[in-house]
Amino acid sequence: MKKTIALLPGDGIGKEVVDVTVEVLKAVAEHFQHQFNFNYGLIGGDAIDQKGNPLPEETLEICRNSDAIILGAVGGPKWDNNPVELRPERGLLALRKALDLFANLRPIKTFDSLLDSSPLKKEYVNGVDFIIVRELTGGLYFGKPSERIVHEGQEAVVDTLLYKRSEIERILVSAFEMAQNRRKHVTSVDKANVLESSRVWREVAEEVSKRYPDVELEHMLVDNAAMQLIRSPKQFDVIVTENMFGDILSDEASMITGSLGMLSSASLSSDGLHLYEPVHGSAPDIAGKNIANPIATVLSAAMMLRQSFGLEEEAKAIEKAVDNVLNSGLRTADLTEAGKAVSTKRIGEEIISALADDREIIK
Ligand code: NAD
Ligand code: IPM
Ligand code: MN
Repeated sequence: MKKTIALLPGDGIGKEVVDVTVEVLKAVAEHFQHQFNFNYGLIGGDAIDQKGNPLPEETLEICRNSDAIILGAVGGPKWDNNPVELRPERGLLALRKALDLFANLRPIKTFDSLLDSSPLKKEYVNGVDFIIVRELTGGLYFGKPSERIVHEGQEAVVDTLLYKRSEIERILVSAFEMAQNRRKHVTSVDKANVLESSRVWREVAEEVSKRYPDVELEHMLVDNAAMQLIRSPKQFDVIVTENMFGDILSDEASMITGSLGMLSSASLSSDGLHLYEPVHGSAPDIAGKNIANPIATVLSAAMMLRQSFGLEEEAKAIEKAVDNVLNSGLRTADLTEAGKAVSTKRIGEEIISALADDREIIK
């Protein structure tokens, strides 16, 4: 199979984890006889420094001319005091909007070998397997006005939480479809006791659920959901929620797996050009040290192979290689004590060697 993949490493550890992922994809291409062409694009802080724009038009073109996109992360202290249009995060938000990447899937699945790495008790996290379906192109992130204003004669500020009914409907449809192929349970998370947007969200959830009689729908208030994720995470199958709640709950849920550096994601669009990105950010505190965990991005590439290219066997091969490396006891610093940790690059090399070993056995 011949595919073109856009690579947007971005800032901080984004570059380090994308470098490892590209090497893993090259190894997959070799073992399974595919041709992957990689096209690099600038986004975030780097793009601001080089082009004066966090999402240059060339980058959008590179994405549009590709079969799928892999993104590292954007942001860093260097740009934190920039005006809003010149913030790295603006580039990522603009990309999500431009490509209509409305459904962000964030699977939370524990690895047996990492049960001791979670701060939660083993018996609570063992066997956890759910997915957060986060709405990604609406809500507070994109509503206008979003600005400083004068209100009642005082300095004030406004952000706007806006959703079209159709935007709520399509993300709920994605969640129900996903649940049909899983354990048939959807938890729709909102703040319907306070927010009108959440009350409409609930109405739409009820309407959509009628089309999926085999799927059970439960509504949960977001504050309770934050607590339930820690108290009994095994109750969840598919969680669907609006943009900001999904952002917060997924970082929280990452600790069930042991580290934010383990969480992969797929951002799916309406027209089939999807983006794959780790849930974590550019981690300025550890950037440039070759100690970041690359597994979230490597597993995002596996999601890409499965979802965008239909390469199930190849996706499984990556997942198995990651599992084998973790079973062998090798870990980056986020998952073990400092003295025992190995580097970002070493984890990448081990994943590639586990892939090769597996292919030898199959041959
Ligand atoms: P972060 O996710 O970058 O880091 C949070 C903590 O987790 C840090 O201590 C970091 O070292 C650790 N961490 C994150 N990923 C890791 C990995 N792969 N391996 C080991 N440890 C890891 O969040 P933050 O510190 O709040 O934000 C830093 C910058 O990243 C900000 O500019 C923010 O806007 C940006 N950000 C970008 C994205 C994205 O591009 N998708 C996501 C989140 C944050
Ligand atoms: C994420 C990040 C982004 C978000 C930021 C960087 C805009 O936190 O991808 O989770 O809030 O969506
Ligand atoms: Mn986030």
